[in-house]
Amino acid sequence: MRVLVVGQGAREHAICWKLRQSPLVKEVYAAPGNAGISQVADCVGIGVADIIELADFAEKLKMDLTVVGPELPLTLGIVDEFQKRRLPIFGPTRLAAELEGSKVFSKEFMRKYRIPTAQAQVCASTDEAKTALKKTDYPAVIKVEGLAAGKGVVIVNSAKEANKYLELVFDDKKFGNAANRILIEEFLEGEEVSFMVITDGTRFVPMAPAKDYKKAKDGDTGPNTGGMGAHSPAVVLSGETAAEIVKTIMLPAIQGMAEEGRSYSGCLYAGLMLTAKGPKVLEFNCRFGDPETQVQVLRLEDDLAELLLKVANGNLEDTKLTWKKEAAACVVVAVEGYPEEYPKGQEVILDPINDDAVVLFHAGTVKKGGQLVNVAGRVMSVCAHAATLSEALAKVYRAVPKVRFEGARYRRDIGYRALEQRKHAVGE
Ligand code: AMP
Ligand code: GLY
Repeated sequence: MRVLVVGQGAREHAICWKLRQSPLVKEVYAAPGNAGISQVADCVGIGVADIIELADFAEKLKMDLTVVGPELPLTLGIVDEFQKRRLPIFGPTRLAAELEGSKVFSKEFMRKYRIPTAQAQVCASTDEAKTALKKTDYPAVIKVEGLAAGKGVVIVNSAKEANKYLELVFDDKKFGNAANRILIEEFLEGEEVSFMVITDGTRFVPMAPAKDYKKAKDGDTGPNTGGMGAHSPAVVLSGETAAEIVKTIMLPAIQGMAEEGRSYSGCLYAGLMLTAKGPKVLEFNCRFGDPETQVQVLRLEDDLAELLLKVANGNLEDTKLTWKKEAAACVVVAVEGYPEEYPKGQEVILDPINDDAVVLFHAGTVKKGGQLVNVAGRVMSVCAHAATLSEALAKVYRAVPKVRFEGARYRRDIGYRALEQRKHAVGE
């Protein structure tokens, strides 16, 4: 098989790395890829939003499968373009990807199909938002409707904070058209967990649950980021709760999208809060998680190429996935300043890591004049697998200082909630 992976982050590096292990796969291409991905795939200089160029390339090389990493090309209709040309592709169509692309569509969809989620009011102007805020308790959550790279959500503790954010959104247009509408949402308390299924629109198979650490700073403080670390198993999630999530959230979502004429095929990702009243959806994503994928591929026994091809061909069959009994952990090394302003072009030095259980998935790296330099805020996903989560984390934290650049910053407490719970008994 000849496979193309669209994207340039650590998630796409993890996907390429896993595809490489498939006996079915002869060639892996990545567009545009990064310096780490170039060790396992041929990188081609086409951007993720250049859909026509990507389709032309896949057509020319008679690609057997294309896997889309990030949400942007999905919301722009990459799958529709590939399907029009009869090119096998893994991911949802443009209409299906609105589940992530429009938080307003997503909220109204959840209401219609009675999928548990936070109460929310939709507002299209400062005046509407101010009226909505009068009915709001604090803390409250404000979300912009469109894509904002994980940065369009804030938790506000007072009307003053809320009004300040409204100014940024409606007056300063910080998020442009992505924020023509906003949601003012009830704050949910509980433990967060990521739950994904792979679906062909009818059948589905769950992925191993993972826990993502979204906040920039230790102790789950600081602004939201794309994700600063992850582990699988999620630990906080019992088998019983997983079954409840499938029944009350994933299944109604897949069936509801089919009823809406937006049949959903690909990876459906639910960001959930495990509240006292049961699991509730914070958001749907129309793609694999980042950094959740990095830990999931380390635990997946099955052939990823075979699985994704089945879905691209619209027939998942009666697939069951097998996950290693081991745990996997990931810590993201980012540049000081991320997710706000941060320097680019810093030289990244990788010292040798003498541990076969450690894997580095590159995020924002490129080779420039023989040097590895950063081009994004998240630079490296340092990952490891081991019999227990505490061992996997220990391996990761021993390896993290081997990734060196000026202003390297990472959370020192990834996994702490799981370890506190002392339920991480994968072999312990
Ligand atoms: P989202 O992009 O909607 O998942 O929001 C990003 C992050 O904001 C989530 O991962 C949560 O940590 C937090 N968040 C979003 N919605 C809520 C909510 N209703 N209550 C509490 N926290 C939330
Ligand atoms: N880890 C969060 C995300 O992929 O959106």
